Amino acid sequence: MDIKIYDKLAKKYDLATKIVSFGIEEIWRWMFIKEIKKYIQNGVLIDLASATGGMSRLNFDKMYFVEPSSEMIKVMVEKFKKQGFKQEKFEVHFQERAYIKLKKENKEIIIIQDTAENFKIDERADLITAFMAFRNFDDIKKASENINKHLKNGGYLAIVEMVKNNSLFAKLILWYMNKIVPLIAGLLVGMKEEYKMLGKSIDSLTQEDIIKNFNNYDVIVKKKLLFPIASMIIMRKNERENI
Ligand SMILES: C[S@@+](CC[C@H](N)C(=O)[O-])C[C@H]1O[C@@H](n2cnc3c(N)ncnc32)[C@H](O)[C@@H]1O
Repeated sequence: MDIKIYDKLAKKYDLATKIVSFGIEEIWRWMFIKEIKKYIQNGVLIDLASATGGMSRLNFDKMYFVEPSSEMIKVMVEKFKKQGFKQEKFEVHFQERAYIKLKKENKEIIIIQDTAENFKIDERADLITAFMAFRNFDDIKKASENINKHLKNGGYLAIVEMVKNNSLFAKLILWYMNKIVPLIAGLLVGMKEEYKMLGKSIDSLTQEDIIKNFNNYDVIVKKKLLFPIASMIIMRKNERENI
């Protein structure tokens, strides 16, 4: 996915998402977090394609946010500072990519400017989240292999994604996303063409396209969300896997 689109959108991302989805994305996130908490409540989290850091609501003690857009990262950092996080002096720009640490009491946040395909973290996570993320990956297979490398045995991978659905209602929503959302986005943030491009990618994935990359996982949740073009998938990595 062209990161420049997200750079341009960053400052208005939260507001634009709320408006064009009529708040539905927030309901999806709320349902997602509620479901995840049934299985795992704390530990090391790696969140992929974090945008402005919405998954920080999971409130784990150690949270990594992996996001390639430098503008999204700026918004995310400001948001965390407003929540009382202090940025540590230590800030590295490795090959022009940011690595930023923030702390508040026993909570630690590490923001890494990278893609799901290429990020490297020297510890494994108890939970990896990808909320509206997979569709953006340029190489789903490579991203999946990297996810697998970074998840502990017995750890959880939790995904929400818009997927192909043939119901009439889903077709109606797709029509709205492809035709109406770019018009609203044009008025709201002056990004009609960019939203047209984002809309085009919606109908491209199925649940199976995602799940097939995780053979050594048990699918423990696989369900459609309130509006049936989004799917929630929670998988648990096999305990015996030795990678
Ligand atoms: C729809 S937003 C994700 C929403 C976010 N997960 C949340 O919780 O609100 C998509 C994000 O994917 C990022 N992105 C694009 N290509 C990516 C890649 N290859 N790897 C990881 N993130 C990517 C974009 O910069 C953008 O911020």
